[in-house]
Amino acid sequence: MTDHILIERTGDTGAINVIRFNRPDKKNAITRAMYATMAKALIEGDRDESLRVHVMLGTPGAFTSGNDMQDFMAVAMGGSMGTEVLDFLACLATLKKPLISGVDGLAIGVGTTIHMHCDLTFATPESRFHTPFVDLALVPEAGSSLLAPAAMGHQKAFALLAAGIPFSGEEAERAGLIYKTVSADQLEPAVFAAAENLAQKPPQALAISRRLVKPDPEPVMARMRQEADLFTSQLKSAEALAAFQAFMARKK
Ligand code: COA
Repeated sequence: MTDHILIERTGDTGAINVIRFNRPDKKNAITRAMYATMAKALIEGDRDESLRVHVMLGTPGAFTSGNDMQDFMAVAMGGSMGTEVLDFLACLATLKKPLISGVDGLAIGVGTTIHMHCDLTFATPESRFHTPFVDLALVPEAGSSLLAPAAMGHQKAFALLAAGIPFSGEEAERAGLIYKTVSADQLEPAVFAAAENLAQKPPQALAISRRLVKPDPEPVMARMRQEADLFTSQLKSAEALAAFQAFMARKK
């Protein structure tokens, strides 16, 4: 458990499971402990019959800056990757209840690819969806290499995931990465209104409809495993180590 992730039950009947990044001094960069806490909250929430909807939020100005660079550096230096990241991603791909996210500001790396597993994402127009995988000598993850082209076509997926071109909130909406842009003061009201609305619906019909609409989780999981093998071997490459060292040294 870590207090860098806050978990809260809310809604009229306590049916909404809120998972909030809470490490603003590091732009909500995600450590292994944070992945583990989020996975536990999602798994327990999915099992709890009184819970209807999951919500993921950040803090003003940052959803998350993605995987913690120190953790990447540790793997590049020969440390173990651990299972926390993959366990969390597997949870996202196999979630049974709807997941709604709200983004204001930075949504980097997995902070962008998470939304490909969400059912509704609201974001402020100033948000910045950015996956600098290739600049870090890494490759797309979280099933994004399969999900992004399906959602937005090859060229936009290539721009986002391979060329590392950031998308504003509005570009993300036009590309079909997110549901809707809303102003910063309307972000959380919009997220919670959508969550409350889903929480009131007949849960079985909602679960079946969601399953019908979403891509089959099996190929997504298979692609995630394939990406993870490539990602891990790139993490251990000399070019990745150089990119992480450049990040660490950028302020010196
Ligand atoms: N991992 C670890 N620490 C991170 C981080 C990350 N992914 N992103 C930001 N931080 C830390 C910074 O090191 C800094 O810590 P410090 O104050 O102790 O030096 C703090 O958060 C604030 O970041 P800073 O870079 O000073 O703010 P900024 O507004 O100039 O830039 C970012 C913010 C997010 C654009 C920049 O920090 C960045 O590019 N981070 C890396 C993002 C990334 O590549 N993630 C992995 C994707 S696969």
